[in-house]
Amino acid sequence: MPLVQIIACSTREGRQGFPVAQWMEAVARKRGDVDVELIDLREVNLPLFDEPKHPRFGDYKHEHTKRWSATIRRGDGFVFVTPEYNNSFPASVKNAIDYLSAEWKYKPATFVSYGGVAAGTRAVQALRPVLNCFQMVSIYEAVNIPFFMKQLKDGQFAPEEGLEDSAKVMLDKLVFWMGRQASLYER
Ligand SMILES: Cc1cc2nc3c(=O)[nH]c(=O)nc-3n(C[C@H](O)[C@H](O)[C@H](O)COP(=O)(O)O)c2cc1C
Repeated sequence: MPLVQIIACSTREGRQGFPVAQWMEAVARKRGDVDVELIDLREVNLPLFDEPKHPRFGDYKHEHTKRWSATIRRGDGFVFVTPEYNNSFPASVKNAIDYLSAEWKYKPATFVSYGGVAAGTRAVQALRPVLNCFQMVSIYEAVNIPFFMKQLKDGQFAPEEGLEDSAKVMLDKLVFWMGRQASLYER
């Protein structure tokens, strides 16, 4: 089955948003027509980009890059679960993206963002043109969660009514594009 990778972008100690990524993983697993993998950038633990060659050559020096490359290579589509830091995405996700090239190419991606009143939307808007560098399909439908802290209960994300439906529609679009794009890249 095609593989959806859910990428938890916040890496900071004391982060609040990881339960949102776990919720997204659970929603995706209910589909049954895709495999699902939750990738925690905190665990991936990449240093600040340190490869000597441009990633487009795929000639990686460091073991951490080779591991990261193998991880993203097996994905067919991505859900970036991201907070908004200072009106944009966190540096952790830009760093993780910059490490690779062909591994992202042509694959579709969508977003779950969370924050205060703006619901992390500025992080999503800033991520879209980054993904365009790899000719990724940046899917219009995203899930944006305002005041997400109010929906955290005992370390779990307890979404308000309607949010899971939005997530399902978003995943439908992602899976649609995964099917269309799969012939364009090699494993
Ligand atoms: C460095 C930093 C910058 C932030 N900037 C924004 C912002 O621009 N917009 C916003 O809605 N929330 C902002 N916040 C608040 C975050 O939405 C909130 O801290 C959230 O818990 C961050 O996600 P995380 O805990 O999973 O890292 C910021 C938080 C941090 C730590």
